[in-house]
This record gives sequence, C-alpha cells and structure tokens, in this order.
Amino acid sequence: MYQIPTPIRAAGACLILMAGFAQSVHANGPKALTGQELAFDNRKGNCLACHSMPSDAQAVTSTDIAPPLVSMKERFPERAKLYAQVWDATKAKADSLMPPFGKHRILSDDELNKVVDYVYGL
Ligand code: HEC
Repeated sequence: MYQIPTPIRAAGACLILMAGFAQSVHANGPKALTGQELAFDNRKGNCLACHSMPSDAQAVTSTDIAPPLVSMKERFPERAKLYAQVWDATKAKADSLMPPFGKHRILSDDELNKVVDYVYGL
C-alpha cells in the first residue's frame, strides 16, 4: 500500500492543528458584555466601587460613597437625564468623583447605552 511520505504527513497534521487553533481563537474571542456585566466590571463601569444597587441581589458591594442606584425610573423620568449623568457627571456637579464615562471614552456609546438600560431597570 502507498504510504504518504512523512514530511507531507507532518504538514497535513500541522494544517489540521492550525485550523483547530484558529477555530478555538474564534470561539473564545471577545464576547459582548451585558449592561449588568459592564456596570460590574472593574475595567469598564465599575459602578459597584461607589454605588450599591439594592434591588439586584447579584450586585455585591459594601460601598456607601455615592447614592444607591434604586427606583431609577421614578427618580429619572427622562432616560436622557440618566444617560447624561453617566456620560459626564461633572455637568451636574463640577467636582464629582464619578468618572465621566462617555466624555472620557471609558465606555463606548453602545456600552454606555447598555449600562443605562440596565441601571434604568433598577
Ligand atoms: C468613583 C466613584 C463612582 C463611580 C465609579 C460611579 N459613580 Fe455614579 N456617582 C458617584 C457620586 C459621588 C455621585 C453623587 C453625585 C456626584 O457627586 O456627582 C454619583 C451619582 C450617580 C448618579 C445620580 C444618582 C442620583 O441619585 O441622583 C447616577 C445615576 C450614577 N452615579 C450612576 C453611575 C453608574 C451607572 C456608574 C457606573 C457606570 C457609576 N455611577 C459609577 C460616584 C461614582
């Protein structure tokens, strides 16, 4: 029976390995974070560093630096006002400790909208 020469067999195995690698890189590529994940992630919103969120049992924090994010729809009848606060807190209070997430491009517009949607439901 014809035997495939070793170098060609090795090259074939290499190709198969590379294809598998490329596939796994693709499968494990960056996945879009949800609004809650973006709010909690300390490299993204990091809201829990300063705000508690008493209505979300998953929001574990011991902070009391900033007002608890709760009853947001009643306190912010206009979503645009909430968006503006997260976009640039220094507009409402010049010496705010809160990072201006939109103005300083800490969050992209898409990420900011997801965070605001999430917070608006608290
Ligand atoms: C470094 C601390 C800090 C971080 C991080 C932070 N905030 Fe704030 N935030 C504050 C402080 C302090 C205030 C109170 C008003 C002020 O001083 O600007 C505030 C106010 C607010 C308000 C207005 C609350 C009210 O009751 O009127 C909202 C809404 C808000 N933050 C949302 C967020 C969201 C959403 C995130 C995460 C994306 C976040 N904050 C991250 C410190 C922070």
